[in-house]
Amino acid sequence: MDIKSEREIHLMKEAGHINYLAHKEVEKYIRPGVKTKELDKKIHDFIISHGATPSCLGYEGFPGSACICVNDEVVHGIPGNRKLKNGDIVKIDFTVRKNGYESDMTRTYFVGEVSTEVKQLVEDTEKALYEGLSVIKPGKRIGDISHAIEEYAHQHGLSVVEELVGHGIGTHMHEDPEVPNYGPAGKGPILKKGMTLAIEPMLNLGKKDVVLLDNDWTVVTEDKSPSCHFEHTIVVTEDGYEILTGE
Ligand code: MF3
Ligand code: CO
Ligand code: CO
Repeated sequence: MDIKSEREIHLMKEAGHINYLAHKEVEKYIRPGVKTKELDKKIHDFIISHGATPSCLGYEGFPGSACICVNDEVVHGIPGNRKLKNGDIVKIDFTVRKNGYESDMTRTYFVGEVSTEVKQLVEDTEKALYEGLSVIKPGKRIGDISHAIEEYAHQHGLSVVEELVGHGIGTHMHEDPEVPNYGPAGKGPILKKGMTLAIEPMLNLGKKDVVLLDNDWTVVTEDKSPSCHFEHTIVVTEDGYEILTGE
């Protein structure tokens, strides 16, 4: 498990800031009628115009610059001709690479007017991310993050997707350790200053079970219930954490 230097953390923050700004940019175009591939193009062009690389594109053959998931799609949605409609939620997840360093960020957006129940799912998933982050400091363990997320999710009647996990990040999009969104506190690798992690709860309104679509990429909930996803890239600091995918 890699400890990043000040210089490396600075570079990851640069990549992360572009990631954040690209989210702000694409948010402007989210409305009923827009195609997911149009959103993908906005993200792609924004990243390129900032001298960075949309590193999802071509990663293990992934065909988009962003993973764009609607409603019951959990992760790895492929941008295409699907048009967003009123009441949908859309999850946009992408990595930005700059000067050899990666960042990874996901947000869930509302399309028009969303039901109270789904709005609650989205609010609670974002809060679950911050609950997970709140325990981070040197000496704590990965399991402490996992447990905080799971406990918050269950307290709010949501289920936790188990097949997909957060991860270390740096020169590679996915590095050790894995960061599950469930499991016992007090277990797993010990957090150290300078570790960089992508924390990303995926929570469902229905059951936790997921299935893989025939396109071999997109994961959906088995019961077709809505799923929500938020993700930040962070660094463990002296006394807590700092978000790298921010302003
Ligand atoms: N951003 C995803 C994650 O959170 C990974 C995307 S896989 C890709 O780990 F193939 F789309 F790049
Ligand atoms: Co991601
Ligand atoms: Co990630």
